[in-house]
Amino acid sequence: MASELTATPVIEAEGITLSYPDAPQPVLQDFNLAVKPGEFVAIVGGSGVGKSTLLRVVGGLVAPERGRVTVTTPEAKDRRRRSIVFQDGRLMPWRTLRANIGYGLEGLKVSAAERDRRIAEVLRLTGLEAMAERYPHQLSGGQVQRGGIARALAVNPDILLMDEPFSAVDALTRESLQDEVLRIWAESGKAVLFVTHDIAEAAFLADRVIVLSGRPAGIALDLSIDLPRPRARGSEALGAYAGRIGAAL
Ligand SMILES: Nc1ncnc2c1ncn2[C@@H]1O[C@H](COP(=O)(O)OP(=O)(O)OP(=O)(O)O)[C@@H](O)[C@H]1O
Ligand SMILES: [Mg+2]
Repeated sequence: MASELTATPVIEAEGITLSYPDAPQPVLQDFNLAVKPGEFVAIVGGSGVGKSTLLRVVGGLVAPERGRVTVTTPEAKDRRRRSIVFQDGRLMPWRTLRANIGYGLEGLKVSAAERDRRIAEVLRLTGLEAMAERYPHQLSGGQVQRGGIARALAVNPDILLMDEPFSAVDALTRESLQDEVLRIWAESGKAVLFVTHDIAEAAFLADRVIVLSGRPAGIALDLSIDLPRPRARGSEALGAYAGRIGAAL
């Protein structure tokens, strides 16, 4: 892992400036962020600071006014280099889970056999094999969120962008989803950019935690979490990291 972390970033945002109409100050101004291949980066910050905005810019959903986002990995017709998991899973209610996962593959050059193989693979990774033919309303909240992760993984991205993906579930489900994301991350080798309000979650999951604050949003802290994995929830070492993150918020 150490050699990978000194590698060229998989994605780099440089000099990003973005304002919303009628706002006196930009949300982001000359903002820089680089994520290395396979790195797990958490973004924390107060409500309204600009976390989702940053994720949408990095994900290519919103063009910045100034600056650029560079994805360094090669483009290919059979995959997307970045994909986003939204807070609510955003599955289409009229499609089965299998068809929801397949949706992201429709614009790509992927054979029917390869599509089926990928869908099977992400269903397995997210533990949803038995749920493939169900509609979203027949799934639990946690299963919908895992479905959103499965759909994002199906396009085989180099970086997975996650916007508070666990905010809508209870604490126990949240812990098991955290464990699953770590397992998927380790197994898939994807880089992850993970937005959360939750300091303990950020410290538990990430290689590096970035704290955003102010308007325009600046990086108040960029902290490497140098703890071996698997990490113990509630350990003193994690608590010390969480304290440093909390102090910067
Ligand atoms: N489409 C929009 N038009 C105008 N202002 C917006 C728009 N989207 C977001 N904003 C404003 O930009 C700021 C940053 O919003 P953003 O959604 O990025 O915050 P956030 O850090 O993700 O917050 P939260 O933790 O509540 O999700 C906020 O002040 C918000 O009100
Ligand atoms: Mg947000």
